[in-house]
Amino acid sequence: MPNTAHTLSSFDYISQQVYEVERNKLFHGGWFMAGRADRLARGNRMVVDIAGESVLLARDLDDTVHAHANVCRHRGARLCDAHSESTQGSLMCPYHAWTYALDGRLLATPHLDDDDLDKSALSLWKHHVQVWQGFIFVSLAKQPPAFDQWMSTNATELLQLERYQFGKLKVAVRTSCEVAANWKIVVENYQECLHCTRVHPELVEVVPLFRSGWVLDHSRDDGGANLANGGNSFSFSGTSDLPLLPGVSGIDTTSYYGGTVFPNMFIDVTGTSAIVTTLFPKGPHHTTMTMEYMFAPEVIDLPGFNPSQIVDFSELIAAQDNVVCERVHLGVSSKAFEHGVLSPKDDEVIQFTKRYLAARGPVER
Ligand code: FES
Ligand SMILES: [Fe+2]
Repeated sequence: MPNTAHTLSSFDYISQQVYEVERNKLFHGGWFMAGRADRLARGNRMVVDIAGESVLLARDLDDTVHAHANVCRHRGARLCDAHSESTQGSLMCPYHAWTYALDGRLLATPHLDDDDLDKSALSLWKHHVQVWQGFIFVSLAKQPPAFDQWMSTNATELLQLERYQFGKLKVAVRTSCEVAANWKIVVENYQECLHCTRVHPELVEVVPLFRSGWVLDHSRDDGGANLANGGNSFSFSGTSDLPLLPGVSGIDTTSYYGGTVFPNMFIDVTGTSAIVTTLFPKGPHHTTMTMEYMFAPEVIDLPGFNPSQIVDFSELIAAQDNVVCERVHLGVSSKAFEHGVLSPKDDEVIQFTKRYLAARGPVER
C-alpha cells in the first residue's frame, strides 16, 4: 500500500475559530520572530503587527531593545504608525501629547499636574523581547515559555546554522508582499519541492536536487544541498562576485541550506547571502510576507555593492510560489475539499502538520 498522509482540512485552513486559537497559542503564546534588530538604530522605533496586535519596538539610547503594546495609557489611542522613524528619544501620542521614554516610562502629560495622576504607574504596557543573533523575538504571553528551551524545540534548523554568525550580518534590502493565502499554505509550500520543476524552472537550475522533488539531500547529513557547478549564491547564475559571508568555508561555500523557525520564519543561506522570510498572518485568508537580504556590513559598504542578482532571483521564486499558494487557498476553501494527501517526498510537510496540530490542539467546530 502506498504510504500517504493527510493534509490539514478546509476547517483548519480557513475557519476563524482556528485562527483565533492560532493567535492565542502560536503567535501570541510563544515567541514570534518580528524582524531584524539592525533595522532598529539607537533611538529608533518600529511597529510590527503580530497577528492583529500592534507592537512597538524601540531601541533605547543605551542599546536595549524594548517591546511595548502600541497603545497610549491615557485614552487608548494607537501610539505610533506602522513605519520606522527616529524618535529623538521619546514617543509622543498624537491625541493629547502624552510622551513616553523609549523604555516605556511616561514622561509628560500636558495640562495635567503631578497631583492629577501618578505617572510612575502609567508606563506603556510591556511585552517580552529577546534578541538572538540579530533576530528580534517577541512574546505577547504574560509568562512566555523559556526562550532557550523554545528555540531548541522550534528553531532547530536555525540553531544548526549558527556558524553563519547571523548576528554579524545586516539587512541590505527588505521587500514585502501580500499573499491571499493562509499562512500554513505558505509554510507547506516552502517545505516541499514536488512543485519545483514545474513552478520554478530557474531554481532547479541552481539547486539540481530540487528536480527530484526532494527538499533534503539524503546523501548528506547536514541538511545542505549542492549548488550547481560549484556555485556560491542563490541567484540566476548561481555564482556571485560578492565576498563570502563571515566564517564560511569548506562545503558551506557551495551549499544551499533552507531552514524554518516554527511558526513564522524561513531562512535561505548560501555562501554569499542569508535571506530571512517572515510571515505576518492577517487572518485566515491573508499573509503579509517580508524578505530581508542579509550580508556582512563591510560587503554592503563596498563601492558598487549590488545584490540585485540575488534579490531579483529570490523575488521571482517568491512570486512563483505566491501564485500557487493563492490557488491552493482557493481550492481548500471549496466545500468539496476535505483533505489533500501527502507522500513520502512531502515528509517536511508531514512533520510541519504534526507539529502544528500538537501546538494548536483540538478546535471545536
Ligand atoms: S490618548 Fe494618548 S494622549 Fe490621550
Ligand atoms: Fe516553491
